[in-house]
Amino acid sequence: MNEQLKTDAWKIIETQFCKTRVESSESLFSLGNGVMGQRANFEEKYTGESLPGNYIGGIYYPDKTRVGWWKNGYPEYFAKVVNSAFWIGVDLKIEGEEIDLAKNEIISYHRELDMQHSLLSRQVKIKLKCGKEIEINAVRFISLTNIELGVIKYTIKSLQGDIEVEISPYINADVRNADANYDKNFWEYVNSSRDSIQMRTKKSGFDVAWSQACFIDGVEWRDESEKETIRETSQFSLKQQEEKSLYKYVGICSSLNHPAETLIHQAMKVAKEAAQLGFHELLKQHSKAWEQKWYSCDIEIEGDDQSQQGIRYCIFMLLQTYTGIDTRLNIGPKGFTGEKYGGVTYWDTEAYCLQFYLSTSGQQVAKELLVYRYNQLDKAIENAENLGFKEGAALYPMVTINGEECHNEWEITFEEIHRNGAIAYAIYNYIRYTGDKAYLSPYGLDVLIGIARFWAQRVSFSQERHKYVILGVTGPNEYENNVNNNWYTNYIASWCLKYAAESVEFVKNSQPNEFQKLIIKRNFNPTQELEKWKAIYENIYLPYNEKLAIFMQQDAYMDKEQILVADLAVSERPINQKWSWDRILRSCFIKQADVLQGIYFFQEDFDTETIARNFHFYEPRTVHESSLSPSIHTILATKIGDMDKAYEMYLRSSRLDLDDYNREIDEGLHITSMAGSWLALTEGFGGMRIKNDIIGFTPTLPKAWSHILFKINYRDRIIKIKATHKEVVVSIEGEAVDISIYGKTYHVTDHITHLL
Ligand code: BGC
Repeated sequence: MNEQLKTDAWKIIETQFCKTRVESSESLFSLGNGVMGQRANFEEKYTGESLPGNYIGGIYYPDKTRVGWWKNGYPEYFAKVVNSAFWIGVDLKIEGEEIDLAKNEIISYHRELDMQHSLLSRQVKIKLKCGKEIEINAVRFISLTNIELGVIKYTIKSLQGDIEVEISPYINADVRNADANYDKNFWEYVNSSRDSIQMRTKKSGFDVAWSQACFIDGVEWRDESEKETIRETSQFSLKQQEEKSLYKYVGICSSLNHPAETLIHQAMKVAKEAAQLGFHELLKQHSKAWEQKWYSCDIEIEGDDQSQQGIRYCIFMLLQTYTGIDTRLNIGPKGFTGEKYGGVTYWDTEAYCLQFYLSTSGQQVAKELLVYRYNQLDKAIENAENLGFKEGAALYPMVTINGEECHNEWEITFEEIHRNGAIAYAIYNYIRYTGDKAYLSPYGLDVLIGIARFWAQRVSFSQERHKYVILGVTGPNEYENNVNNNWYTNYIASWCLKYAAESVEFVKNSQPNEFQKLIIKRNFNPTQELEKWKAIYENIYLPYNEKLAIFMQQDAYMDKEQILVADLAVSERPINQKWSWDRILRSCFIKQADVLQGIYFFQEDFDTETIARNFHFYEPRTVHESSLSPSIHTILATKIGDMDKAYEMYLRSSRLDLDDYNREIDEGLHITSMAGSWLALTEGFGGMRIKNDIIGFTPTLPKAWSHILFKINYRDRIIKIKATHKEVVVSIEGEAVDISIYGKTYHVTDHITHLL
């Protein structure tokens, strides 16, 4: 538990200022509106350790690749979402003393993040060197209703004595990425005026303009702008107990949405129109939009305040990260909370995040995530060609923003090819959940054919085994590389081929004209290619250990010394910090769900005993050193009835960042793990699953909880599940639907109660 934070159902609250945890709190209190976001830096100057961070989705810089030993096939660059202008700036001098929390004497400090309304506020009382005391109240939000707007209300109050205030709201565009490979500035100056500035990213050529409109009652401003900083300054006096508020409205417009030459004008328009509406009206609109978001996706946990806060925090951050408003945007593993992972797209989106958005934000929002990959199909084909594949085979990149591969470690870039499987699985998952089979044409099938062609070329036929094998891969467990026949990869590859073949048949029969177009577009030979795919999926080699009756993670896994995580001294962990990489690779320790990830995806293919045997073998060997790991284990542990394990893993996942489990949140939050936590709750404890086109639930609660209540968006209606240890109540808003509870199907028109 993080002693710094208070437990509250709807808020994240810190009541102490701690210099050594400023960067961690900057991550924790981050704001975003799905299009842009920022770390919770202070408005006023701060000279202590801090990581300023403002990010605009889709605005990236291709940072030249840096590797020790070049390998053919490595990408030339790593696209990074650019750290952009620091637009919240408010410099402050009181009685000639600069306000800088690293130096001032702080009497009291309170910061809170209101998750219900995405509102950040901070109250600090300071004793000045002259003995006078002041209070600062800073409130800000990034508007959900006007996605190009940020708003700040910054109030200064004199607590003791009359004071002279000098205040300078500013926007500083001279900003660098801390993770720049060659310490270069990614921006160049384009233009500025008294209250606006326009910058352009080098190489990628995105333009962004920022404009501020600042108001303090009865105060005149003087322009103090310099080239890359626009700044206005004014002075005023406050009598004891008197206060004045600065209202700062900032328009942030980019060439993703407007012609570059109109940007300053656009940004100014956003700021000025906002100023006319005023802080209270803007906040009202923003809050209402947030309440509407929550209405269809809140989760209540009764009996455990820590868990309650944890899950709301996960939902909140996911909603701040992605809203599905723009197909060019996706979900970086750190969202808008830090630079790590470059803000770009991983398999995390398809394997973990998609289901969250499907169930909370609706079909259209989730579909945008699939269309993002569809739009990058030609690049995925190019990517595969660069590696020697041909005839329309598509390998989606491990890491990307525009479809081109950015990752440059051979064991991941070239070998962690299972990512292709997750992209196909996401199409299947989306259709299973929404019933929208029409997605297959023109979108889904095109992608599935590219992916199937890749697997058909990537397998090889082993004369020895008389089976198709996949050699030299890295599975989800990145703690072993270049292995042969990773069970997960082989399983998902063969599933992709089968699913692609079924989808071909479906589109051929349901949309023959569209199908003909696709045949021509992709030079597709259905008879020949389907025959080949079938030969592979019917004869794929899936390593199995007869003695243990479990799937084998890879051919040589049992050659490793078999020890358990429980045998490791605490001082040895995390092994990725304590051991050499060589030692990790030779050990049997597993970073994250691997065989179990496959079992999770394809649960219907396995009986409970098989799941339990595999779980009991692999979990004790898993160090969970990827934040993606605990949630999948919660789901499977619940399935096999190990509720203690399920609960332990759930807490680890849902409060990972709030409790800073891995002591690393200063770098940013774990957005994928948050999606995993939501899965753990709804699919794990809630037992949500779709079978034979019917949505079903098998709620099983941890002992500590007296009830859970969760809402999901399902095929244009909201389903509300309230489960206790004794009963499940299901109610719906919208048209009647069949819902299965513990295998019994109810036609729910309003609500039903199922006794356990
Ligand atoms: C995990 C990957 C994941 C990446 C980004 C890594 O630590 O092993 O599976 O895609 O983090 O979240």
